[in-house]
Amino acid sequence: MAQIIDGKALAEKFRAQIKADIDRLKTKGIQPGLAFVMVGKHPPSQIYVANKQKACAAVGIDNFLDALPADTSEQELLAHIDKLNRNPKIHGILVQLPIPPHINTKKVICQIDPKKDVDGLHPENLGKFFLNLPGTRPPTAQGILHLIETTGINIKGKDACMVGRSAIVGRPTAMLLAKNHATVTLCHRFTENLPEKTKVADILVVAIGHPRYIQGDWIKKGAVVIDVGITRLPDASISGDVDFAAAKKRASAISPVPGGVGPMTIAMLLKNTVDACETIERIS
Ligand code: GUN
Repeated sequence: MAQIIDGKALAEKFRAQIKADIDRLKTKGIQPGLAFVMVGKHPPSQIYVANKQKACAAVGIDNFLDALPADTSEQELLAHIDKLNRNPKIHGILVQLPIPPHINTKKVICQIDPKKDVDGLHPENLGKFFLNLPGTRPPTAQGILHLIETTGINIKGKDACMVGRSAIVGRPTAMLLAKNHATVTLCHRFTENLPEKTKVADILVVAIGHPRYIQGDWIKKGAVVIDVGITRLPDASISGDVDFAAAKKRASAISPVPGGVGPMTIAMLLKNTVDACETIERIS
């Protein structure tokens, strides 16, 4: 039976270190601040942002929520971000996605000052990531890597399969695994014979948003499985993208949903905020 990777406990350990770093900054008179921007009412986003705000408060990051109406124009949102860019109390800006379709998401991300881009989604940060230059890395990919590392698996030379190619999770995670010397297969909706790819993976990461899509017998015996999916089912229960009950009989380690990737992503967001704060305060 697989080891269950306790993302909640691992994140808690990580947060203790972050809190110590923040306490040290505070003795120098520096107070990290993170602004959340939400446009319209998207119930899952409201829960995610509330969880992120709670985590900020617990480690001592000042956090601000700007909940803008659904009919906010693109120009208004860009102007709002510009104001946050110039606010010295704000070291991180997180525009919770998705935003309403009348606003161009790429334009919004490009408007965020790259130094305050705690999601690591600005082209400058993604370019630096690609080139191995210092910059902000997307929190979910960092969190996933941390979970994999804690299992003790030596990533170097292993076959890794990333299912899902989103800009927030799939593509950055595939790149991070490749940087750590795994041989990476990046799968998506047009992949032919997906089980053939997943069955040979020593490390399997799934981020597609289809509850229980990955079957137990699609998993290599002894694989490390990271489930990024989180879907609320009609019966109000929460499910990941992997059939957890079947998968845990084959994997050597598996992350649960909830309590796996989610808490680790938030911990990495806090770390990115503290790093951004230190960088901005150093140069101001
Ligand atoms: N929506 C779902 N996940 C995320 C995330 O990590 N960052 C942002 N900005 N929006 C999201």
